[in-house]
Amino acid sequence: MITRPVDKEKIKNAFSKAAATYEEWANVQNISEERLAAKIEGRNYSNILEIGCGTGRLTARLATLNPKAKITAIDLAPAMVKKAQGRLAAYDDERISLLKADGENLPEKILNKAPYDLIISSATFQWFADLKKALGVYSTILSQKGDIIFSVFGPSTLKELQTALVNAADRKTALISSLFPGKEELTALVTAVFGACQVEELLIKKEYDTLIELLSSLKYTGVAVPLKRRPLIRSRKGLARVEQEFLQRFGAIKVTYQIFFVTVSR
Ligand SMILES: C[S@@+](CC[C@H](N)C(=O)[O-])C[C@H]1O[C@@H](n2cnc3c(N)ncnc32)[C@H](O)[C@@H]1O
Repeated sequence: MITRPVDKEKIKNAFSKAAATYEEWANVQNISEERLAAKIEGRNYSNILEIGCGTGRLTARLATLNPKAKITAIDLAPAMVKKAQGRLAAYDDERISLLKADGENLPEKILNKAPYDLIISSATFQWFADLKKALGVYSTILSQKGDIIFSVFGPSTLKELQTALVNAADRKTALISSLFPGKEELTALVTAVFGACQVEELLIKKEYDTLIELLSSLKYTGVAVPLKRRPLIRSRKGLARVEQEFLQRFGAIKVTYQIFFVTVSR
């Protein structure tokens, strides 16, 4: 995954479309945010940069946990930023500034606020084209004793859906999630930039009543482009085949979500 083609327009549009439904469906992402928040409790940072803030759930926790911090939170999708602005309207711009920006191409305005003593991101970096390069930039805007803490989905995410699709279609179908960085790759690329890091893995199994419910949960959380080829799930017959494959192989519509939590402390 170190460098891979990503269609930023598609990612931006999919997440913008999902902004209204995101929180109702994003239970797994919420677990990730809670874990990240627990990791920084009691640290009292003063200048925080959050990448991929979505609807601002983690941003709100950051504000509560760090009552004196200036927080800059960015997201690629305008509708997500708007949601976050609504949630955090009680804070002035000095305290929390929410901007539409690409975490792989930080605008001057954000670079100029450096150094940050915390750079944090939940469930976003799997959408980056070149995570190592982005971390290289973050290392230049992180203070000398700063922390970078993030979560990222791993390649075992949705592996059961991948298997069911491949077997039902009898040909190669690649889910985007299969290209997400694995533990070794992630450790290597973060270590190359920062010298050392800690990587923890969390596996979450989630069961859905139907395949449609699983696919809806992906769509309504912004993962509208999970497949390289997806004619199969466009027809009722195709869906039934995939569902049958799921039930035969796994006994239920059950999928794994693999999340890595990475901590870098300078
Ligand atoms: C799975 S959501 C996570 C949102 C939030 N952190 C949470 O945990 O609920 C991923 C978010 O990353 C944003 N995103 C994707 N690529 C991005 C990029 N290159 N720069 C900034 N944000 C990005 C999406 O718009 C989306 O809001």
